[in-house]
Amino acid sequence: MSKTIVVLASGTGSNFECIIKAINAGKIDAQIRCLIVDRPCGATKIAKKYGISYYELAISNNPMLNLHVKAMLCHEAHLIVCAGYLSILSTDFVHLFQGRILNIHPSLLPKHAGRGMYGARVHQAVLDAGEVESGCSIHLVDTGIDTGTVLAQATVAVSPIETVESLRKKVQMKEHELFPQTIQKFLQQQKP
Ligand code: GRF
Repeated sequence: MSKTIVVLASGTGSNFECIIKAINAGKIDAQIRCLIVDRPCGATKIAKKYGISYYELAISNNPMLNLHVKAMLCHEAHLIVCAGYLSILSTDFVHLFQGRILNIHPSLLPKHAGRGMYGARVHQAVLDAGEVESGCSIHLVDTGIDTGTVLAQATVAVSPIETVESLRKKVQMKEHELFPQTIQKFLQQQKP
């Protein structure tokens, strides 16, 4: 029986779509149970395009309700994938699912990470630091921010004329290869 994945997203959903395409191409042996978003975002259009159920659980003033609904949707999922999910997962949620939550971060962890470091801010920090290389990391989620064990990384060269936008595109191309590969490897190695 193939495994089940729940995807959490807040953005355009390009990584989400790459995961769907990898499943459809037989490169990931799993099914997506549903998408959870924390705000209106492009990822829900992708869910509609592929007929995947989605739920918008806004960062509400009722964190317990949010936790319960999210936990219910993720219950029995083999893997929870944060594909550009901007909300910080609560400690309670992480404790429930620790060891089966993956996140993608657009830098070579542990560099350029932590609270408030997401999207363009990460790439700007890479340029400000004069890095000659950057990349993306897939890591297990723990109760810290971007601190869990790194499972895979891919690097890109930072050119002297690099801009935030050009770096974002380069890194994202790597993400689209690395994320599906890492998900498949993770599921294969997972104990039943
Ligand atoms: C990715 O670059 C990822 O590294 C970061 O958020 C972005 C999401 O992009 N965590 P998309 O919504 O998958 O296009």
